[in-house]
Amino acid sequence: MFTRNEIIEILKDDSKNDWLFSLADKVRKENVGDDIHLRGLIEFSNICKCECKYCGLRAPDKNIQRYRILEDEIIQIAKNAVDMGYKTIVLQSGEDAYYTKERMVDIIKGIKEFDVALTLSIGERTYEEYKAFKDAGADRYLIRIETTDRELYKQMHPNMDFDNRIKCLKDIKSLGYEVGTGCLVGLPNQTLESLADDILFFKEIGADMVGIGPFIPHPDTPLKDADTGSFTLALKVMALVRIMLPDINIPATTAMETLNPNGRIIALQSGANVVMPNVTSLQYREKYEIYPNKICTHESPDKCRGCIGAKIKSIGRSISTTYGNSHNKN
Ligand code: 5AD
Ligand code: FES
Repeated sequence: MFTRNEIIEILKDDSKNDWLFSLADKVRKENVGDDIHLRGLIEFSNICKCECKYCGLRAPDKNIQRYRILEDEIIQIAKNAVDMGYKTIVLQSGEDAYYTKERMVDIIKGIKEFDVALTLSIGERTYEEYKAFKDAGADRYLIRIETTDRELYKQMHPNMDFDNRIKCLKDIKSLGYEVGTGCLVGLPNQTLESLADDILFFKEIGADMVGIGPFIPHPDTPLKDADTGSFTLALKVMALVRIMLPDINIPATTAMETLNPNGRIIALQSGANVVMPNVTSLQYREKYEIYPNKICTHESPDKCRGCIGAKIKSIGRSISTTYGNSHNKN
């Protein structure tokens, strides 16, 4: 365990990166083992009311072709993923009002007919909605804090409220979901001090899963001319998360692989134990362009499963056949 100052020192100093990555790999092995959990990700709507400055799905973006997958088709896509062996389905979308409480409950119940764990990643909702989704069978909820720097949060998220995001995380935790959160690394004006605070925040709220991704500027957003986040810095934040929260689930993120062709494997050898392959049907994939050059936009669900399976095998790790629940007791 490191203090805030130690975390900042480690983030500043690149001369001990190899030590950091091997320590995180060791902590991962000792606490969550060699199994890798695959989560099948369904990106079911790219319609979003938010205006996050970094995101390619932001409401004001007129270049993007919007799509929405309807209830029956979502359930069918989930069924196909379960048949392919996925033990967790992740439903992700923009903040799209079409998916009312009732519609989400129907989708959740439909998917929970299959033998599978279910994660939702659909943004800020009311306590009552979160409760209805939980009662319908949802197991986990993913909502990144994105940054714990209030000022930066405000700059990045017009018309959003940092305190409400915290409330969402607390609501989810109190309802008994496994809580997934995380942050972006390399946002304009983001400091190493605030990244250290992000890591301490994940611990403080008792996160069960933490996803870390480098910021990648999207050409249709106000941040189009900003610098791309550093792969190495994102990897360092991820490794520190593993050391500070030894028994949680940590994904090797798609954004990491977008910046480095071997990014997910490197992440799996630096603390990560989860991968979230895309199981969305081909025709929708390239439209879910949160950031440019996102991987797997021209691949089928089968292709991705085979691809990641082979990569995992090549480093001597195995794919878990369990739900991969969090070991975190906090
Ligand atoms: N670069 C990298 N990650 C991004 N996300 C959104 N926009 C970008 C971007 N430009 C991440 C956010 C969000 C997740 C679904 O995608 O952290 O929570
Ligand atoms: Fe999709 Fe490799 S995981 S092509």
